[in-house]
Amino acid sequence: MSVRKRRKVIAGNWKMNMTPSSAKELAKNIYEQIKGKRGCDVVICVPFVDIPAVAQAVKGTMIKLGAQNVHYEEKGAYTGEVSAEMLKECGVQYVIVGHSERRQYFGETDETVNKRAKAALNAGLTAIICVGEQLWERECGITAEVVSRQTKLALYDVPEEQLAHVIIAYEPVWAIGTGKTATNEQADEVCGIIRSVIADKYGKQAAKQMIVQYGGSMNAKNAEGLLAMENIDGGLIGGASLKPADFAVIVNAAQQ
Ligand code: 13P
Repeated sequence: MSVRKRRKVIAGNWKMNMTPSSAKELAKNIYEQIKGKRGCDVVICVPFVDIPAVAQAVKGTMIKLGAQNVHYEEKGAYTGEVSAEMLKECGVQYVIVGHSERRQYFGETDETVNKRAKAALNAGLTAIICVGEQLWERECGITAEVVSRQTKLALYDVPEEQLAHVIIAYEPVWAIGTGKTATNEQADEVCGIIRSVIADKYGKQAAKQMIVQYGGSMNAKNAEGLLAMENIDGGLIGGASLKPADFAVIVNAAQQ
């Protein structure tokens, strides 16, 4: 069996920023900066209410649309939640699952991360599953343990056939929004650990094909170094994804 070459994926996570009208402008500005760059996949993950406006803005471009969360039930009495089918019908192809901000502030657990990932995959969405240690866990020397555990639990009961629609984003919690980035070597090491979890569970072939992103203060200055590392197949970018020129530098650094 031939091994699919890993293509880099640069995903912006806009978090809770941009009203629909400003989101549309930002998406257009990003497109202006990166049009013609086809050497990596580009995704922007926007707030739910911005989805229709951004879907319109990126229509016919290479920019793909993502959401920042998805509920695990198909429908029903879940006030305030949004299902995978709803997202799909709005043109969403990717969804972030288990972001550390959801784990920290909204009671997300490894179990609900797994349920959301499965709901997304079963609906045909690509799940960007976030894992990452907190500072005190790193200081205790249990980074590998934490990240392996989160990865294994997120993929519980996920069949190998669906792995082409899974992206794992390694986001050390201490590097998110802090301006502190993991060093290239630290990031590469943990992305390699994630890959070895995939190898143990699904085999070497699957591990070679798995897209593993780094996220946590990736920016226009450090992207090139991080993206050159063997185990890093792209980035999940917060702050810098709101600045079209900076985001374009990162997309440029990911061209293959
Ligand atoms: P920053 O790039 O702002 O650190 O955010 C990273 C992140 O959380 C992406 O999901």
